[in-house]
Amino acid sequence: MTVQKVTPATIRAMKGREKIPALTAHDYPSTKLLDEAGVPLILVGDSLGMVVLGYPDTTHVTMPEMEHHVRAAARARPRALLAADLPYASYDTPADAVANALRLVAAGAEAVKAEGGRSIIEQVRAIVDAGIPFIGHLGMLPQHVIEEGGYRIKGKTDAERSNLIFDAVALSDAGAFAVVLELVKREVASEITKQIPVPTIGIGSGPDCDGQILVTHDLVGLFPWFTPRFVNQRANCGNDIKAAISEWKKAL
Ligand code: KIV
Repeated sequence: MTVQKVTPATIRAMKGREKIPALTAHDYPSTKLLDEAGVPLILVGDSLGMVVLGYPDTTHVTMPEMEHHVRAAARARPRALLAADLPYASYDTPADAVANALRLVAAGAEAVKAEGGRSIIEQVRAIVDAGIPFIGHLGMLPQHVIEEGGYRIKGKTDAERSNLIFDAVALSDAGAFAVVLELVKREVASEITKQIPVPTIGIGSGPDCDGQILVTHDLVGLFPWFTPRFVNQRANCGNDIKAAISEWKKAL
């Protein structure tokens, strides 16, 4: 049986038909494991800054670091669509956005994601015009955590709700094939999901989005020092690793 490569069109066509599972991977083995588990959308997220590189937040992640991890993930040659984050300050202008998106594509990414709505719409148009599939990211924007002073739910006020809806429509009109909604109030995420023709992929935004994305480390307990409240952890790999090492030490 031939396995069909997942494309942006595949992800887009899943809207309204089946839920879209998406997870992060930052290296070869995790990409292979997620692919073998049948995850159709894999993101080399800049969450790598925290869960792999030990930075306090994603604003420290650089283009060379993203390229290094995208290359490792791409070597797994997944059936899944492999997307990658444009890191902090790498898409300040349309020219930068295209140049850096092309670098991620050269490293093996099949789509790129950037944070923001109408504020980056010229960059989004430039990326899409360059033929690079684009995923939007709205709600809590981790690359803005310092100016925001923390991670909080978005869409609680009327102004935030309408801004989020306008941003989501703008991203979809500009050619994004999916939009991540991070920490968006459930009702607002649900409204956006109904209003835009492309899939919404939620993270901490309630069950009504077209898909769900998580940082894999959070899902499987691989970064036990901090787990976001909305994550229903499914394994405790951190403990399993420590137990295996203790057993090995005892058996020496
Ligand atoms: O960096 C990341 O991993 C993300 C997520 C949406 C999980 O952007």
